[in-house]
Amino acid sequence: MNPEPPLTMPGADILPVVFACSPRKGGNSDHAALSFARGIRDAGGDCRMIMLREYRVSPCLGCSACARTGHCVLAHEDDVADLFALIMRAPFLFFASPIYFYHLPAMFKGFIDRGQSYYMRVLHRDARMLALPSRRAYMALCAGRPRGERLFEGSLLSMKYFLQIFHCTMHGHLGFYGMDGPQDLLKDPQSLAAVRNMGAEAWHAHCHERK
Ligand SMILES: Cc1cc2nc3c(=O)[nH]c(=O)nc-3n(C[C@H](O)[C@H](O)[C@H](O)COP(=O)(O)O)c2cc1C
Repeated sequence: MNPEPPLTMPGADILPVVFACSPRKGGNSDHAALSFARGIRDAGGDCRMIMLREYRVSPCLGCSACARTGHCVLAHEDDVADLFALIMRAPFLFFASPIYFYHLPAMFKGFIDRGQSYYMRVLHRDARMLALPSRRAYMALCAGRPRGERLFEGSLLSMKYFLQIFHCTMHGHLGFYGMDGPQDLLKDPQSLAAVRNMGAEAWHAHCHERK
């Protein structure tokens, strides 16, 4: 596992989850995730931070076992089931990721693919899946290229359908161009502030919904 506290720790289920999804430690996605978390804290909230690279995520085998049973044969082999348990309980979600070849990096895409067994549970009308409340999701994508109208399109489309499984909709997303070096986002106060504000707004929206 990883040095983080156990995923089942008391109270974890009520916290929003902030996912940093780059294989590169200390890079732009990590800084985006930290800024979003700071925004939540600015607004008086708290969150749980997940550095995806610290978890064991095996790729989907395409074995179709979940189509028959709704369960994944890999569920006890890695940390994916624990991560999806957090997603199911979180009041809202944030994902920060780099763009790799116009899409998401392999590990993050591997994690998304493992959502297939949860999609199958929806098709099987699993009561726990059907009872999930509608929730918001947010995202920041970091790309090295300085321009490109369609640079974020593929990633956002995958996220839309991945999130749908868990009754989440993408409420806000930021796409940052020209972020290649690991400190590039850190050197751009305007972009950092935009992610931080998004975090604060997400917390305020969550509090408003709870009233
Ligand atoms: C394997 C690989 C593929 C990449 N593909 C793209 C790409 O298609 N378009 C782009 O703009 N940047 C691309 N980049 C650059 C990264 O998106 C950029 O460096 C980003 O800031 C990395 O984020 P991180 O610091 O969070 O890891 C690629 C980088 C790597 C390592």
